Amino acid sequence: MKIENTFGIEAQCRELITYDSEEALRQALAYIRRQYEGLPVLHIGCGSNLLFLNDYNGIVLKSGIKGVHLTDETESEVRVEVGAGEVCDDFIAQAIGHGWYGLENLSLIPGQIGAAAVQNIGAYGVEACNVIEEVRGISLKDGIARTWKKDECKYGYRQSIFKEELWGKYAITRVTFRLSKHFKPNLQYGGLTKAVEQAGLTEDTLTAEQLRQIIIDIRKAKLPDPKEQGNAGSFFKNPIVSKEKAEQLLTQYPAMPNYPAEEGKVKLAAGWLIEQAGWKGRSLGPAAVHDRQALVLVNKGGATGKDIQRLCEAITKDVNERFGIELSPEVNFI
Ligand code: EPU
Repeated sequence: MKIENTFGIEAQCRELITYDSEEALRQALAYIRRQYEGLPVLHIGCGSNLLFLNDYNGIVLKSGIKGVHLTDETESEVRVEVGAGEVCDDFIAQAIGHGWYGLENLSLIPGQIGAAAVQNIGAYGVEACNVIEEVRGISLKDGIARTWKKDECKYGYRQSIFKEELWGKYAITRVTFRLSKHFKPNLQYGGLTKAVEQAGLTEDTLTAEQLRQIIIDIRKAKLPDPKEQGNAGSFFKNPIVSKEKAEQLLTQYPAMPNYPAEEGKVKLAAGWLIEQAGWKGRSLGPAAVHDRQALVLVNKGGATGKDIQRLCEAITKDVNERFGIELSPEVNFI
């Protein structure tokens, strides 16, 4: 069976099972044990962060768990439980419609809620972990449910316990968010204040719907639509380097974008490094670097996972030779 992925890479698996409840997932796991003993199991969301290098000789599971439930409410906040199979951007639109705020800056990021909690998706100064309260999952080994409080999820920049030590061990079934009933725009990310002004709006009167629309417009202008050209959003993570390393590069490249990161480190823009290395818009066979955002690799049509990997390796090598920085992919290679 064909595995759906936003890169548009042809990849087959032995069987693809979509489930719509925790009980259905347990039944699917029992069926897999009976029918396919010993074969690996891969859990996917919308396939928006995966690169298939080969067909997958195993079973693919996909969450169809839906539902948005308000479980608690105070004067200022709501607690909302969301099924892992809900489409992230649909939930964000719905939340804004209800007057629940905090997710506006993540508008239009592709993928499902479960993947958002695994990947700690982030954009324009906001990360999913800023509003996640807890995450619930089912063990793929024995079907037992477990809940992780936010602090136990070990969230970091595009990082979580589910991407590290628990990778491949649990299916996320539900994510609980704590959202605000008072809209306070987060415009700290460079460029957002300007975009608000350019739209003829001001920070004081800006509504959540307007901010969502501004974010959508920025993303549409920079990022290719996977329906038109296969891609997985940012292909690389932005590298986090020591202060000394950043200072050394800044003396040579004073215009290099840089942002403060955890523990006194500095985050650099992989897109800028890749562009400086001359890769923006360049192709290697059917794989290419997007011409409006060098952090995104695209499938020009008919690319295999290995074509994309070859381009990734060529870029990584060049950036390393030029800047002494090892880029690492944000996308998961399967
Ligand atoms: N830049 C270039 N050339 C490029 C791309 C970027 O010079 O081709 C420069 C920009 O001018 C800017 C800096 O690099 O000074 C940062 O660029 P941008 O604001 O576009 O953001 P990014 O660092 O490239 C990250 C996330 C995006 C997220 C944006 C906005 C990662 C890996 N990527 O990109 O996330 O939308 O910030 O917050 O952290 C994704 O994860 O799929 C994704 C799209």
